[in-house]
Amino acid sequence: MYKGTKVSLQSLERKHLSKCVEWLNDPEVTETLSMSEPVSAESEQRWFDSHLKDEHSKILAIETMDGEYIGNIGLHDIDLHNRKAELGIFIGEKEYWGKGYGTEAVLLGLKFAFEALNLNRVYLRTFLDNKRAQKCYEKAGFKKEGILRQDMFKNGDYLDCIVYSVLVKEYFQRVSTG
Ligand SMILES: CC(C)(COP(=O)(O)OP(=O)(O)OC[C@H]1O[C@@H](n2cnc3c(N)ncnc32)[C@H](O)[C@@H]1OP(=O)(O)O)[C@@H](O)C(=O)NCCC(=O)NCCS
Repeated sequence: MYKGTKVSLQSLERKHLSKCVEWLNDPEVTETLSMSEPVSAESEQRWFDSHLKDEHSKILAIETMDGEYIGNIGLHDIDLHNRKAELGIFIGEKEYWGKGYGTEAVLLGLKFAFEALNLNRVYLRTFLDNKRAQKCYEKAGFKKEGILRQDMFKNGDYLDCIVYSVLVKEYFQRVSTG
């Protein structure tokens, strides 16, 4: 569907869900995600069924060029009046962390957001101490907007988040200059 040199983005299908359940019950993966509750196969199936009907959310599977499924990237809260959405990503296969797969997946996610969905702004939130994610987003062209104080409750604490965004004009500027 969307192809780079390390990863492609494919539509998320029922066959992907068992891996999602495995990853979303791995504390190392979920440590830097907003979700905190364990996920069952049944709850994941229910989530998938409701996702299929949800016009305000698009989630794609991230696969390596060998076809290995390694994570998900999604646009959430798609707002067609203001033409914006919130991006979320996780790579569940931990051996792929820190090797450029996330950055390429984010760039392809932006291509989808701006070139297919015609959005104007893509934003995201990440925990203040998630340095790997911040580097990944900055490499993909996201600009830091500011800090949301105590934005998310996680492991008994309210955590600050950084908001990042990319505008469509910045995306196309980057595409045109390579
Ligand atoms: C966040 C995530 C999608 C990034 O994908 P990735 O493939 O690991 O990221 P990339 O390799 O493209 O970029 C990460 C960069 O941070 C660097 N990095 C890794 N660990 C780091 C750390 N602790 N501090 C600072 N930089 C770090 C990497 O070296 C790389 O930079 P480089 O290309 O200059 O070497 C992935 O790590 C992930 O899914 N993590 C778990 C879930 C998560 O945090 N999701 C995001 C929630 S907002």
